[in-house]
Amino acid sequence: MTTSDKAALELKHVSYSDDSLAIINDISGIFPEGKITTLVGPSGAGKTTLFRLCNGLISPNSGEIRVAGKDISSYEPTELRRTVGLALQSAAMLRGTVFKNLELPLTLQGGKLPEADAAKLLEDVGLEAEFLQRNVRDLSGGQRQKVSIARTLVNKPKILLLDEITSSLDRVSKQEVEELITAINQRSQVTIVWITHNLEQALSIGEYTWVMIGGKLMESGESSLLHHPRNESVRRFVKGEFT
Ligand SMILES: Nc1ncnc2c1ncn2[C@@H]1O[C@H](COP(=O)(O)OP(=O)(O)OP(=O)(O)O)[C@@H](O)[C@H]1O
Ligand SMILES: [Mg+2]
Repeated sequence: MTTSDKAALELKHVSYSDDSLAIINDISGIFPEGKITTLVGPSGAGKTTLFRLCNGLISPNSGEIRVAGKDISSYEPTELRRTVGLALQSAAMLRGTVFKNLELPLTLQGGKLPEADAAKLLEDVGLEAEFLQRNVRDLSGGQRQKVSIARTLVNKPKILLLDEITSSLDRVSKQEVEELITAINQRSQVTIVWITHNLEQALSIGEYTWVMIGGKLMESGESSLLHHPRNESVRRFVKGEFT
C-alpha cells in the first residue's frame, strides 16, 4: 500500500476474542479504495472472522474499524450492510426463482426490485435475463455463485468482501468469476477484499495482499510479497502452499 492510497476500510488495533480465546489479535491496516486486496492465511487464521467484524456481524472487543472514515459502530446496521457487501463460498439461497433471490436484500428492507433492474444485475454477472425465472435448484455451481454475487450487488456496495467464492468451482467457472470481479472493480471502482486459499489467485487478482496467521496480520503490501516474504512464518506458509 502506498502513501497515496486512501482507505476504504481501516482497522486500528482490532482485537476479537470468543470465550477469552483470542481469534483476532491487534490488527491494524487498510484496504485501499478502489483496489483489489487478497487475504490469505492458513485455515483458522481468522480471515472469515475479520470479514464478520468488518461487516458488523460481530463487534471487536477493542480497537476501531472505519468505513469511509467513519467508525462502523456509528452506522445504522442496514446502512453498513448496504455499504459493505459480503459474499460467501456457499451462499444460502431461498427456494424458488433467481428473481426471488435477487430481490431478497430489498424485500428484507421492505422494498421491491424492478424486473428490469434484476435483468441488468444478471447481465452484469454474465447471465441472461431468462435466468430470472429459473429455479435456483437447477443452477450449476458457477451460475449459483454468479447469482450470489449479483444479489450482493443489489445494494450497490462500495466495498465487497468475498470469502472463498471460487474454491468450489471448476476451472472455467473460476476464471469467469475472477473476470467478473475484476470487471466490477474496474467498472464501478468497488473496493474488493478477497479471501482465497489459492496463492496463485492471490497474486494474479490482488494488487495488494494481506497474510494472516494465528489471528495476526503478519505481512501486507503489494502481492509480490508472496514471492519474497520477510516474515519467517509467512515464508513457511507460502512454501507449503506453493509446493
Ligand atoms: N463463533 C465462533 N466461536 C468460537 N470460535 C470461533 C468462532 N468462529 C471462529 N472461531 C475460531 O476462530 C478461529 C478463526 O476462524 P476463522 O473461521 O475466522 O478462520 P479462517 O481463517 O476463515 O479459516 P478457513 O481458511 O478454514 O476458513 C478458528 O480457530 C475458529 O475455530
Ligand atoms: Mg474462513
